[in-house]
Amino acid sequence: MNELNESAVKNSLRTRWVGRSYRYIQSVGSTNDFLKHEMAAANPPAGTVVLTDFQSKGRGRLDRRWEAPPGTSLLFSVLFRPTWPAERLPWLTMIAGTAVAESIEAETGLTISLKWPNDVIIKYQGKWHKFCGILLEGQITSNSQLAYAIIGTGINVNIPQQQLSEASFPATSLTTVLNHSVSRLKLLTTLLQRLEVLYDLADQGTSPRKTWEKRLTTIGQKVEIFTSNNEKVVSGLAEGIGQWGELLVRDDSGKQHKILAGDVTLRQSPI
Ligand code: BTN
Repeated sequence: MNELNESAVKNSLRTRWVGRSYRYIQSVGSTNDFLKHEMAAANPPAGTVVLTDFQSKGRGRLDRRWEAPPGTSLLFSVLFRPTWPAERLPWLTMIAGTAVAESIEAETGLTISLKWPNDVIIKYQGKWHKFCGILLEGQITSNSQLAYAIIGTGINVNIPQQQLSEASFPATSLTTVLNHSVSRLKLLTTLLQRLEVLYDLADQGTSPRKTWEKRLTTIGQKVEIFTSNNEKVVSGLAEGIGQWGELLVRDDSGKQHKILAGDVTLRQSPI
């Protein structure tokens, strides 16, 4: 029996609504796609979680792949139905990154940081490494409201270092850093609880921006911003964050650029 199956999660969950509708699938294409396409007809409630042990078509940002060996990771998607103006969509990125960081710190004692816009990173052997990615997908209605939003999270929990795929940014897993394995069930239930607390606060109108911003390693760094075709858009100094989570970059001519997360990625130098 899998440690993340329906009854195991139900018995450990301490939330009111996040994860109360929970679906475990041993293997699936992508949990984001499953929630969006396969479950849509059933009109699942807010807080629905779809979790799998293996994805054959796991997706990352900018059409990249997200790969993880079976049974080693947390791979799941959470459905939200925010009645917020569409411009608040980035709040969900902030809530998700913060919830991941806070729950891992609580469960492991590690110090977790964020790389703009939504990579979760850790210093390991003196160098920043990515061990978790977040894929936020949403639909906006014709009157600029959010119809729904899906937060897809992939955390390298117990992947041995030699099984991690090569990436442009160094990758690692929690087990590598800690030198012992981590309970995926405990981490998941703590994470879903943090997600609920942070979402409820945002729903009452409290911006998650300040809490999120404190964890960003990006501010004060020299950065290069690339589109998905690997075209450089701008390079300069990351000075700060705008109201909606945009990265504010000052180029060498002194001009400030507001970078939106949607279609760009970032390289920090030095990493
Ligand atoms: C990134 O860093 O580019 C984002 C990675 C997001 C991966 C997760 S795993 C669960 C969910 N389902 C997917 O297909 N992707 C997200």
